Amino acid sequence: MEQGKWGSFHLMKPYGSRRVAIVAGVRTPFARSGTVLKGLSAIDLGRACVAELLQRTALSGGEVDALVYGTVVPSVVAPNIAREVSLIPLLPKGVEAVSVSRACASANQAITDAADQIVLGHHDVIIAGGAESLSNVPILHSRSMSDKLVALSRAKSIGLRLGIAASVRPRDLVPITPAIAEPSTGESMGQSAEKMAKINHIPRDEQDQFALRSHRLAAVGLDGGRLTAEIAPIWIPPSYEQSLATDNGVRRDSSIAQLSALKPVFDRRYGSVTAGNASPLTDGASAVLLMSEEKAHALGFKPLAFIRSYAYAALDPGEQLLMGPVLAAPVALDRAGLTLQDMDLVEMHEAFAAQVLCNLKGLASREWAERAGFAKPVGEVDRARLNVMGGSISIGHPFGATGGRILTTLCNELVRRGGQFGLMTVCAAGGMGHAMVVERVS
Ligand SMILES: CC(C)(COP(=O)(O)OP(=O)(O)OC[C@H]1O[C@@H](n2cnc3c(N)ncnc32)[C@H](O)[C@@H]1OP(=O)(O)O)[C@@H](O)C(=O)NCCC(=O)NCCS
Repeated sequence: MEQGKWGSFHLMKPYGSRRVAIVAGVRTPFARSGTVLKGLSAIDLGRACVAELLQRTALSGGEVDALVYGTVVPSVVAPNIAREVSLIPLLPKGVEAVSVSRACASANQAITDAADQIVLGHHDVIIAGGAESLSNVPILHSRSMSDKLVALSRAKSIGLRLGIAASVRPRDLVPITPAIAEPSTGESMGQSAEKMAKINHIPRDEQDQFALRSHRLAAVGLDGGRLTAEIAPIWIPPSYEQSLATDNGVRRDSSIAQLSALKPVFDRRYGSVTAGNASPLTDGASAVLLMSEEKAHALGFKPLAFIRSYAYAALDPGEQLLMGPVLAAPVALDRAGLTLQDMDLVEMHEAFAAQVLCNLKGLASREWAERAGFAKPVGEVDRARLNVMGGSISIGHPFGATGGRILTTLCNELVRRGGQFGLMTVCAAGGMGHAMVVERVS
C-alpha cells in the first residue's frame, strides 16, 4: 500500500491489471532522406504501413478501436497525422485517432498512450506507431516576409500592393528550416553527442567500431530475412513502377579505414562525431498492433509479447542531452520487478554511437543510479544481447517512427530466440528518455 496525497492506494506492479499484448509490428523500408522515399509524405508512409499491418494480420478494420500515431515535424496543412492515417479505406471512419509528439520517442509515446487506454479498459484494439519524412520538412518564410505576405493579401489597392512588393528585401527571402537543435539551448543533437563523448571519455575509434558493428549486424539481419520480414515493401511515386523493399542506409562495404577517415561534423577541430558514427536523416514509418490479452485470445491471435512496464524521465537539456534513457531504464526495470540480468535482449536507440556508449557507461555507474533514485547501478549491458540486428546508425532514424521499429524487432527476436524479457531504451530531444520492459510468454 502506498501513501498518496489523497490517501492510500495500491501501486500496480507490474504495469496494469489488464495485460497489453503486442500482437504484430511492421514498418516501411527506412530510406536516407532526399532519396527513394522523398516523394512520399509522412502521412503517405504511415498509411501504407498501417494498411500493411492490417493485411498481414488479416484483422478486420472493424475490430480497431483507435489509432495513436507520432511524428516530430508535422505537416502544416495536416497536423493531425493520426487522423489522416486512420482514414485509409481499410479502417472505418469511426476509428478515433490522436497524434502525439515526444521528439525521437514519439512512437513510444503512441505505444504507451495506446497501452494505457487498454489497461484502463477504454479500448481493446489499438494501432500505434509513427512516421517521419525528413525529406518533406516545412520550409517557412521569415517573420518579416510573413508580415508582408499577410499585408499583401489584405491590401485593397494596386498602389498599396506595389508598395508592399517593393519593400521586400533579399534577407526577407531567406527561408527558415527546422533545426535539429534544442530551442532552449540552441545546441544541436550532434553538438550534444560531441559534448557527451568528451565528458564521458568516449574515444573516436570506439564510436567507429560501434558504428561498424551496427552496419554489419543490420546487414546480417536484412540478408538473413529476419529484418526484411518486418519491412513492408513500398511503391515509389510518381510512376509507382518500382518498389523499395529494404533499408538503403545499411553499408555492407563500410570499414574502419573508411569510418576513421571521415571528418568530424559538429566540432571540426577536436570532435569525434562524424557522418559515419551518427544516425542519418531518414524517411519511414512504423506501426504495431496492441490488444488486451482477452481480445487477442478471443480473436485467435498469439501475442509476440506483453508490455510489462515502462518509464519516461528527463534531465536538463543543457547538461547531457541524450542521457535520458539512463534515468528511465532503472525505473522501468524496477516497475517490472526485474533486473538487467533478467533481460535476454536489450534494444537501445542509436542516435549516435557516442550516445549509446555514454548511455552504457551511465547504466553501469553508481552516480547515475543515485540520480535516478537507486542505490545500485543497472549494470553492464552484455554486448552479445545489445542491438543484435543493428540500430538507427545503420538502419536509419525517421524520428517519429523509430520506437515502433525497435519494439517490433525486440519482440520478434525474443520469440525467435526463445527469450523471456527484453528492455528497450530511446533518447529524445529535450533531455528526455524512455524505457520499456516486455515479456514473452511461451
Ligand atoms: C551527421 C550528418 C550531418 C551527416 O550528414 P551528411 O553529410 O548528409 O551525410 P552523408 O550520408 O552524405 O555522409 C557524408 C560522407 O560520409 C560517408 N559515410 C557516411 N557513413 C559512412 C560509413 N558508415 N562508412 C563509410 N563512409 C560513410 C558518406 O559516403 C559521405 O561521403 P561522401 O561525402 O564522399 O559522399 C547527418 O546525418 C545528421 O545530421 N545526423 C544526425 C541526425 C540527428 O541529429 N538525429 C537526431 C538523433 S536523436
